Amino acid sequence: MSAQVLDGKAIAADIRERIRSQVDDLRAKGRRVPGLVVVLVGQNPASQVYVRNKRKACEQVGFHSELMVLPAETSQQDLLALIDELNARADVDGILVQLPLPGQIDEDAVTERILATKDVDGFHPYNIGRLVLRRPVLRPCTPKGVMTMLARTGIDLVGKDAVIIGQSNIVGRPMFLELLMARCTVTVCHSKTKDLPSKVRCADIIVAAVGVPRFVQADWVKPGAIVIDVGINRLDDGTLCGDADTAAVAEVAGWITPVPGGVGPMTVATLLENTLLAAELHAAGSG
Ligand code: GUN
Repeated sequence: MSAQVLDGKAIAADIRERIRSQVDDLRAKGRRVPGLVVVLVGQNPASQVYVRNKRKACEQVGFHSELMVLPAETSQQDLLALIDELNARADVDGILVQLPLPGQIDEDAVTERILATKDVDGFHPYNIGRLVLRRPVLRPCTPKGVMTMLARTGIDLVGKDAVIIGQSNIVGRPMFLELLMARCTVTVCHSKTKDLPSKVRCADIIVAAVGVPRFVQADWVKPGAIVIDVGINRLDDGTLCGDADTAAVAEVAGWITPVPGGVGPMTVATLLENTLLAAELHAAGSG
């Protein structure tokens, strides 16, 4: 393997340690610790794992955290009423409703109901708009976590060619805005893109967020490129793999993120950063 590994697990541990010490300082000053409420509707197994990791991370840094599990049949009206209650609670700095939601619930309506200042996912149109305008407040966790990882390479991103594979609201689109804000030239590819391999071959930075196991092939990768693998795919044998053919791509790339232990832990660590920021905004009276 020639690529250097971008160890998300280790970077995330550093972030958690820094946040834990900030929470200790708050407590020492007699101030309230940040509070996050995570809402899970139904029993999607992947969501259950993600939510458990988020709660565990909150506890580790000393945040107040609550998990609210609602039945899969919950109506949109009931979920919106719960969000209204959480919006009104002074001890709640962040609200996270785990996606996807069951079919009877309109995800956009839920996202827009959460107060923008408590939107620690950074999905509210206000927060996305701030990112478009290069004046971000609460930024979507996975793309922001990827930017933290890219910073750790020490490579100057200005003028680099970046290709994102995937155009989701959660990853692809905000990732485009983050990389553009970092002054990269950014191409977003999707299922209708013509000759995807030729576009990926031009990239200094590749962000794979398609949800297809081992989709990105070694011969699509420019030697020395940074490969960020957002995919977490469970194979039939129960093992996890990413959206890139990691072992083969690592022979060509300059940097690569492992799966698991790459982007996943960074998403969770960034959620903690966002919750701390939301708490600071509330304490300053701007929330
Ligand atoms: N589902 C998959 N990723 C995410 C995320 O970052 N936030 C929420 N709320 N749901 C998700």
